[in-house]
Amino acid sequence: MAPMLSLPSLLSERVAAVAGVDPELRPATRPQFGHYQTNVALRLANEQGRPPREVAAELVAKIDLADLCEPLEVAGPGFINLRIRADVLASVATAVLTEPGAGISPAEHPQRVVVDYSSPNVAKQMHVGHLRSTIIGDCFTRVLRAQGHTVIPQNHIGDWGRQFGMLVEQILDEGLDASSLDLPGAEALYQRANTHLKESEEFADRARERVVKLQAGDAETRRIWRQLIEVSLAGFNATYRRMNILLTDADLAGESIYNADLPVVAADLEERGIARIDDGALAVFVEGAQAPAIIRNAAGGYGYTCTDLAAIRHRVGTLGVNRLIYVVGSPQEYHFQQVFAVARLAGYLPDDVSAEFVGFGQVLGADGKKFSTREGTAVTLNSLLDAAEEQAAPPIALAAIKYADLSSGLQKDYTFDAERMVATTGDTGPYLQYAHARANQILRKAEAEGYGFENVTVLDEPAEHQVALLLSRFGEVVAQVGETLQPHRLCGYLYELAGALSVFYEQCPVLKSEGAVRSSRLALCAATKKVLATGLDLLGIEAPDRM
Ligand code: ARG
Repeated sequence: MAPMLSLPSLLSERVAAVAGVDPELRPATRPQFGHYQTNVALRLANEQGRPPREVAAELVAKIDLADLCEPLEVAGPGFINLRIRADVLASVATAVLTEPGAGISPAEHPQRVVVDYSSPNVAKQMHVGHLRSTIIGDCFTRVLRAQGHTVIPQNHIGDWGRQFGMLVEQILDEGLDASSLDLPGAEALYQRANTHLKESEEFADRARERVVKLQAGDAETRRIWRQLIEVSLAGFNATYRRMNILLTDADLAGESIYNADLPVVAADLEERGIARIDDGALAVFVEGAQAPAIIRNAAGGYGYTCTDLAAIRHRVGTLGVNRLIYVVGSPQEYHFQQVFAVARLAGYLPDDVSAEFVGFGQVLGADGKKFSTREGTAVTLNSLLDAAEEQAAPPIALAAIKYADLSSGLQKDYTFDAERMVATTGDTGPYLQYAHARANQILRKAEAEGYGFENVTVLDEPAEHQVALLLSRFGEVVAQVGETLQPHRLCGYLYELAGALSVFYEQCPVLKSEGAVRSSRLALCAATKKVLATGLDLLGIEAPDRM
């Protein structure tokens, strides 16, 4: 039998072929309702003004699913219940085990996708907001790549802007060697420069002049600016490595790379009448927007908005992408709506390229308020990792943080509770790691005893069916995450699978069974281990073999 890795879509197609509409199959809510249910007969009956059970019976007689399902059943007011045949589930579980990708099917239309994420600012430590962007963006990159899309991560670091005037000037005042700083040192410098700026008019003037020098390409200014970027990158990269994040220097696309494009974008928008001068500034009035998008301010400076427009132009025009995904804190949602609207008007963002803003909520402290230090300042990402590592070994602490970040809807705020997050029971990352390690332990013991296995062949027990059924859904869940950008669906799925696996251990002896049953159960364990490891990897979480 050919592998049927996309079993749910196959079932849908067969039902749709007779019903003429999408059956919207849903996983059955109770075992006695089979594996999937559809209310398509109720919907059709409603349209046709006929008794629903009669329509259901008619559909059941025509739907051709004998090779995949037990005879279909009509239930209640006219639901149709589908129960997949045990031999079919067994062959799907085997395919999960033996085929590459564990059931993830390659995208029908592979795309080129930019994921704009992490994007910290030079001379500032990454804070919790960057933590979320980094973890979420990395998960998207992994999922989309697994589906065969070409992902181009773009780390839009804040490496340009007026703050560099005061930073460079402060370095010169103090006679500092910028290259000797580390990232916390650069941040301390930032604070001293800020204070200095507020206290001294004279310093503020010099800082302004320094910005002009930076823009004009003055050699010494540029050299110090580069040094500040280098020390910041060293800090960011150390954090990425600590967190097992995919980003490398090759993905850097900081604000400064768009410098030369800014006047070009402004002129283009002005010449084509998309932008106009308003109160000395160049602005685009987007229909329905509360405020105009400022392309160039009255002082002649280009800001964040113009830079993001230039970035879109580059990503679509030069990188040739079909999909743009921005993973940035929810407070910036309005900025991006405006940028997307202007880019559409200008044609930088053609209709066939999608642009999605994926915001996320805040991380809260135990007091339910925005997570901050005792002094009331924003918590740095590294101190947060330290806090989790006080509770557990690094790979477990990291799993705890990433899972907590991805497992509830992204828009929701969540409370940083290191103790709860590292628990190996409940809906946590370490629980999933533990489930994986436990499956591995059984396979290891089997190997030591000389028990081999090949395929999943026998599925007699309901607990075995449940595990195999869930395995058959993995590919579909991954496809949904790639489309909807909702990682919590994958988390929920893996949690359900881990739960089904532990019910299976309780009800079905593996090492103590014999012959074909033992071999089939070992294969089922191995397929589950593979899906747990693959799924955790898509979340950016390691799956250790022992815990
Ligand atoms: N550097 C910004 C911040 O820390 C995030 C940049 C997001 N990406 C973008 N293309 N604007 O808030």
